[in-house]
Amino acid sequence: MKTTTSTRPSRSEFATHWRLDPAITFLNHGSYGACPEVVIDAQNEIRALMEREPVRFFMQHLERLTDVVRERVGAFVNCAPKDLAFAPNATVAIATVLQNIDFKPGDEILVNTHEYMSAINELGRMGERLGTKTVKAKVPFPITDEQQVIDAVMAAVTPRTKLAIISHITSPTAIILPVKKLTDLLHARGIRVLIDGAHAPAQVTLDVTDLGADYYVADFHKWVSSPKGSSFLHVQPGLQKGFRPISLSSRVHNVRDDRAPFLAEFDYVGTSDYSALLAVPAALDFFDKVLPGGIPALMKRNHDLVVKGRAAVCKATGLAPPAPEDMLPSMATILLPALPAAARNTRTVFGDPLQDRLVDEYRIQVPVWALPDCGTRFTRISAQLYNTLAEFEYLGKALALELERETRTDSE
Ligand SMILES: Cc1ncc(COP(=O)(O)O)c(C=O)c1O
Repeated sequence: MKTTTSTRPSRSEFATHWRLDPAITFLNHGSYGACPEVVIDAQNEIRALMEREPVRFFMQHLERLTDVVRERVGAFVNCAPKDLAFAPNATVAIATVLQNIDFKPGDEILVNTHEYMSAINELGRMGERLGTKTVKAKVPFPITDEQQVIDAVMAAVTPRTKLAIISHITSPTAIILPVKKLTDLLHARGIRVLIDGAHAPAQVTLDVTDLGADYYVADFHKWVSSPKGSSFLHVQPGLQKGFRPISLSSRVHNVRDDRAPFLAEFDYVGTSDYSALLAVPAALDFFDKVLPGGIPALMKRNHDLVVKGRAAVCKATGLAPPAPEDMLPSMATILLPALPAAARNTRTVFGDPLQDRLVDEYRIQVPVWALPDCGTRFTRISAQLYNTLAEFEYLGKALALELERETRTDSE
């Protein structure tokens, strides 16, 4: 199946809002998002304001504009704006939470086998420094229902568990975890909860107040499609005293009676380009208006499309869907056969020879990962407004050919 522009499936009529390369079938919104043109324009206007009068921007406009974002985000995720701080990404936000907890040697931090590696890596470093221990609950995959998650996580709790980190939507396996139920159960055992919601905003309805976790972090640059470098951190009011950014700016010693330290310290962490965060309202405006029904309609459309897209890929390849539809957001993971032994030492650009071939031969951008904790190899598809079912059918055909080719090569 050699690709030509005539065989390449079209994107949807909404694709004109994005600047995506027309020569690529882009099925990986989940990794880094993709920013619509109007949002890039809004970010450029903020940058122009910054460069017109940098001193006034950093000393006067920045806090005011951050408060505008705070109000808008508070309404979007249902929480008090004063409980929100911002960070460049979920990686930094999670490290910030870890740095603000008084861990003692022997304290356990409970994660599970579907957690994102940046949190696990940070915990590894912390363990070496402080003598804390990372405990991994084994959540199965394939999975049939959320009770399996609850049982696995709660079975790994011990009297030493101090904090649990749970993804709202898992990165490698693309399933929605029962974060509200887990938070309640963990709180009943006296354990603090950090929810890693990197993927959640605009994939699931987010009610941070109702969830009640001690800390909630999330990215806007993934599914809200804001510019890269825009994330938030919600901290319960009782935990905000002394909760500080990873780096302290030149301003933190200034005593202020007009602003809580939690806000003032996070709003300015040194000279940087804050325009990605300040453009978040433009991204929310875009999705509010692009479809009748706004973001709820967008989430339903994307979910429905990914369910159909997964079915198309499974049909073409004969692979089985590894998770129920009601656990899927706007992404879906499909388990692939293990990388053939003959290909294990191949040098790759994207991490797996199959992903390289999908890009090089078919111009399809979709991740192929190995996650030893969860079985073999995976591909994860994402459905965003610019995608169509025909694109997933095209991936299905390409994958069927490539998996067949892998089997042939391996047996030669
Ligand atoms: C569950 C999860 N947490 C954290 C991250 C890190 O996000 P960022 O790259 O924005 O720091 C990711 C990125 O994909 C993720 O999937």
